[in-house]
Amino acid sequence: MAKTYRLAVLPGDGIGPEVTREAVETLRLVGEIRGFTLQLTTYPFGAEHYLKTKEAFSASALEEMRGQDAILLGAIGDPRLPVGMLERAIISGIRFGLDLYVNLRPIKLYAADLCPLKGKTPEHIDMIVVRENTEDVYAGIGGFLKKGTADEVAVQEMIFTRKGVERVIRYAFDLARARAKAKKVTLVDKANAVGAMDLWTRAFEEVGHEYSDIARDHAYIDAACMWMVKNPESFDTIVVSNMFGDILTDLGAAVQGGMGIAASGNIHPGKVSMFEPIHGSAPKHAGKNVASPIGAILAAQMLLQYLGETEGAELIEDSVAELFATGKLKSAGTDSGVGTREQGDWIRQSARRRASTPT
Ligand code: IPM
Ligand code: MG
Repeated sequence: MAKTYRLAVLPGDGIGPEVTREAVETLRLVGEIRGFTLQLTTYPFGAEHYLKTKEAFSASALEEMRGQDAILLGAIGDPRLPVGMLERAIISGIRFGLDLYVNLRPIKLYAADLCPLKGKTPEHIDMIVVRENTEDVYAGIGGFLKKGTADEVAVQEMIFTRKGVERVIRYAFDLARARAKAKKVTLVDKANAVGAMDLWTRAFEEVGHEYSDIARDHAYIDAACMWMVKNPESFDTIVVSNMFGDILTDLGAAVQGGMGIAASGNIHPGKVSMFEPIHGSAPKHAGKNVASPIGAILAAQMLLQYLGETEGAELIEDSVAELFATGKLKSAGTDSGVGTREQGDWIRQSARRRASTPT
């Protein structure tokens, strides 16, 4: 009997639904080719749902997701609602609720002409960021005193736990070992200014000693941004705290061609994990068939990789790379000249052709 994967799908807001549709159709096609089927549960969470029901997210949905094989999310966020309200409820709700402690973000240049940096080619840009995903200023420890008065105080704590830091560092070393690249992990932090980050320094040294085959490297976050632009080839695997990782990976997305094409996995090894493009809901581009579906399609590719469908994942990645190689797209953004739908169709046709061509 064909294998069935149960997926929770949250298309979300803005361009979320249209890019998610391309990702889901691509997964279905790969299923046809590789012999698996999908059983989808689609959740309506997002601005429309909230405005209708006043429900941002639900505990019972989270419990249902725990029993699925993986989660695919499009994008969340809407200017009609208070800043960050839905993002915290849904995105952070899933990341924290399912303890998805790794935010895995590959930064890979698929074609030289996508890169805004002079003289950089795919061989220079192929790294992966392991962003801690459950602590730091995202942990929600903070608040206001005398809110709205002239004496207002606002506090948000940067929380790091030894267990939380150690487990994500260990994941990065294991990943560097599995990647056939430079076998190097770079710790990115701000320990020179943020004293608490000494915990990262010590945990990195201690865990690193268990991995004698993997080189240890270090960069402060400000310098890491500079190196990302100047010498991206110096990075292989990066491990970084939550907020610095958030910032560094938008820079990484730009270096690989744009926000529209970068993907991520929110992972707890061995447990149900969530995959999403790293771009937001981009409300002004919604419904115009101009958003790049590639971030979402590559999120689907990461999802398959996570489920162990390695050949299917490769099929998607090779087809995306082929689309870029054709030079059909004027850019990887909304001004690519090829529609959301048409890019998705093109990628699926390529996957179909690859699958039917005997090697
Ligand atoms: C990301 C996003 C989120 C984050 C926002 C939407 C809360 O920027 O996934 O990178 O800060 O983690
Ligand atoms: Mg971000």
